[in-house]
Amino acid sequence: MAKEKTFFTCTECGGSSPRWLGKCPSCGAWNTLIESLPEAGPGKNRLSGAGQYAGLAQAQAVMPLAAIEATEVARTASGIEELDRVLGGGMVEGGVVLIGGDPGIGKSTLLLQAMDALQRVGLPTLYVTGEESGAQVALRSRRLGLDASQVNVLAEIQLEKILATIEATQPAVAVIDSIQTIYSDQLTSAPGSVAQVRECAAHLTRLAKATGIAVVLVGHVTKEGALAGPRVLEHMVDTVLYFEGDTHSSFRLVRAIKNRFGAVNEIGVFAMTEKGLKGVANPSAIFLSQHSEPVPGSCVLVTLEGTRPLLVEIQALVDGGGPSPRRLSVGLERDRLAMLLAVLHRHAGVACVDQDVFVNAVGGVRISEPAADLAVMLSITSSLRGRALPKGFIAFGEVGLAGEVRPAPRGQERLKEAAKLGFSMAVVPKANAPKKPIPGLEIHAVERVDEAMAAVRGLG
Ligand code: TYD
Ligand code: MG
Repeated sequence: MAKEKTFFTCTECGGSSPRWLGKCPSCGAWNTLIESLPEAGPGKNRLSGAGQYAGLAQAQAVMPLAAIEATEVARTASGIEELDRVLGGGMVEGGVVLIGGDPGIGKSTLLLQAMDALQRVGLPTLYVTGEESGAQVALRSRRLGLDASQVNVLAEIQLEKILATIEATQPAVAVIDSIQTIYSDQLTSAPGSVAQVRECAAHLTRLAKATGIAVVLVGHVTKEGALAGPRVLEHMVDTVLYFEGDTHSSFRLVRAIKNRFGAVNEIGVFAMTEKGLKGVANPSAIFLSQHSEPVPGSCVLVTLEGTRPLLVEIQALVDGGGPSPRRLSVGLERDRLAMLLAVLHRHAGVACVDQDVFVNAVGGVRISEPAADLAVMLSITSSLRGRALPKGFIAFGEVGLAGEVRPAPRGQERLKEAAKLGFSMAVVPKANAPKKPIPGLEIHAVERVDEAMAAVRGLG
């Protein structure tokens, strides 16, 4: 490819400059100029008036939807059940998957295992590594017990060479580990810059769509937990998966946050072992810390992520703060925590105004569903009062600004799972109360927050 002259555009106002500047010459914003390639084709501003496009290209035939054959996408299961589950059944022909997660959480490990599994069911695979040498990947494969692996490896970081290799070798699936290490010759920006990441991902996506080769991009995450690089990456690809979990514990969650070929919020659960990641088929109880006696500030939540209920311990610590108390949450949204504290104060008379409040979802799980509200509020109140919740206690339910407790989706399933694991008391939204009693489970159905507090002795 001939090198085209690049220029810089402002992500704020769209203004441009022939060279990089710290400050946009048009709108004055700082650090918004990113390198861009000129648009192909004739100048886009020259068009005006009716019939203006006729000379540019031939009109194409259109077809009513009903006349188009609705073909199911062709997928191949890797045989790694937990991964296939989040992908919606397996790798899709021409599909592009982006997989993000903290360093060291297991992205390379999982993908190497998956590529080997696909290779063994007869799909040619290519593993492009930009972070490690071929020898390092080989070392990992030996550790994983994949000594005879036929997965092809390419240690390369230049996009054009990678594209040419993929085209020439025609794998069914290609992994790029990671997108932040790849650079295109066409741009002068450094690998990992917004311009490079965007450009490289766009080329790889185009190749996937044109050839039917499935492409998996590994993406780094920033300290805040978002994928590094432009948001546009998430829009470009078909599926976005995130690795979650505490690197100090062995359990890992892989969550689909976008999936054009399957359900979102589906999760796959793995345990990191000496020999790589192993699927956990029955994950409901892995995020409970085993207290021998109940402790104040702890409440078990039954969350339902994807198709399986998961019991997660929510821990809170409320402690004397000062004039500007801190609110910190790990695994739960901080803004939501501020809102719940306000609702607690107003509608249940529980005041943490001058106290530091820390909330944590055990095991490094991220909980985004509002059904966690009630458990968060109960754990906070329990910590504030210094009173432990009863043994075998669970809760779930969304809480509104008016102090009302709203139902959670698929409440029956949540309750059944809790009963199965031996839990004996539940505080749940009224609309989630089962018609028939569940053996062994005492259920308190509530409509308001203060009722929920009153249902537990010592809190209300
Ligand atoms: P890795 O897949 O390299 O993480 P990422 O690509 O997301 O940065 O995983 C590295 C971690 O996993 C490292 O701390 C070692 C550990 N590990 C195991 O515990 N068992 C194994 O079999 C392998 C290969 C790695
Ligand atoms: Mg890696």
